[in-house]
This record gives sequence, C-alpha cells and structure tokens, in this order.
Amino acid sequence: MKFFVDTADTAAIRELNALGMVDGVTTNPSLILKSGRDILEVTREICDIVEGPVSAEVVATEAPAMIAEGLKLAQIAPNIAIKVPLTWDGLTACKAFASEGHKVNVTLCFSAAQAILAAKAGAAFVSPFIGRLDDIHLEGVELIQDIRTIYDNYAYPTEILAASIRSVNHIVDCARIGADVITAPPAVIRAMANHVLTDKGLAQFLSDWEKTGQKIL
Ligand code: E4P
Repeated sequence: MKFFVDTADTAAIRELNALGMVDGVTTNPSLILKSGRDILEVTREICDIVEGPVSAEVVATEAPAMIAEGLKLAQIAPNIAIKVPLTWDGLTACKAFASEGHKVNVTLCFSAAQAILAAKAGAAFVSPFIGRLDDIHLEGVELIQDIRTIYDNYAYPTEILAASIRSVNHIVDCARIGADVITAPPAVIRAMANHVLTDKGLAQFLSDWEKTGQKIL
C-alpha cells in the first residue's frame, strides 16, 4: 500500500520523506489555506521534495476553466496529478487531461457509482472520503470495500486513494481491504508507531538496564 501525505506543510513532508514514508502528496484548497502560502510556490517546493505524484486541485467549477487551471498546475512539475472534483464537469476535465497523458485524481468521491464514472473517465486515482462519510454516520470503510470489489470485477486500472483518513484504524482497515493508496495527515501516520505495550515494555527494559549498572557506550 502506498502512503501519500495529506498536507501542504513542507517541513512535515520533508521529515516523513526522509524516513521513506512518502510515496506522494495530496493537497486541496483548505490545506493551501492552512499553509498560508501561494499555491504555485508551495506546490513547486513539494514536487522538489517528493518523487511520487503530488495532487494539486483546480478550483473552477466548469470544465473549460478547470482544464485551463489544470494545465497551469501541470506545468509546475512532471509529477503533478491534477485534482478535480467528482462532478460532471470534473469528469469532463478528467477525460480531457487523461487523453493528453496527465495523471488525474478525482476527489470528493462519496459513492461507488461516482467511483465507476471516475474509472470510465480515465482517472489515475479516485479519492473516496472515509472520514466525512463517518461524520454523517455512514460506513466510510465499506465504500472502499465496494469500490475494490467493483474495480477488481472489471480490472479498472484507476487506483483507490482512500482519503479523509482520521485514524490509525482507518489505515489498517484500508490495508486489509487492499486500497492502493491512503492519504493521511502527518500526525495520523506518526500515530501508527504508537502502542501502549511498546511504551510499557520499553520502560521496563530501561528500568532493568539501569539496575545492571552497565553502559553500551
Ligand atoms: C484528499 O485528497 C483530501 O485532501 C483529504 O483527505 C480531505 O480530508 P478531510 O476530510 O480530513 O478534510
């Protein structure tokens, strides 16, 4: 399973990338706002750090303007994946980009029906939002399972990029199902290392080691 980091915080991306944890990055208008930086400048910096796909999202809502914005974003670096919303105009733009060889991430996917359309439009990635479905008391993880089954039925090459990840359990559930990619905030990726028994075991080992009176260095 590939790990994308869902942030425009370049310091966090650098830190995780140095550990080999970053296969790509996803951004969106809210994350650009949070970064406080210019979209073109910060996206260029991210593309310099990370070799894998970096999703940059259009903000126009009609296909011709989406296409113009997407082509500008694609000029930032060869590893840009143009992110479009899962609307009819977004699918129209997706098809146009894909036909010209651009990678497209179709975002804001909340149903299996939408995911089928993204695959038909030639998306490289479809981004179903788990956390936001959970927020309205629907089972986000079940959507990932449904899309996995459907894509496998027809060998659709579109990768399932599980998004709106809020917990370590979301990531493990996605891995169990076989999502191709997860995109998660840096804090959730870091939290994967935590376990209460690891902390307890380490405290015990350190306490016993102190009693030996020995030193390694
Ligand atoms: C995906 O690409 C989105 O940027 C992101 O996962 C949305 O997550 P949120 O629901 O936590 O905002």
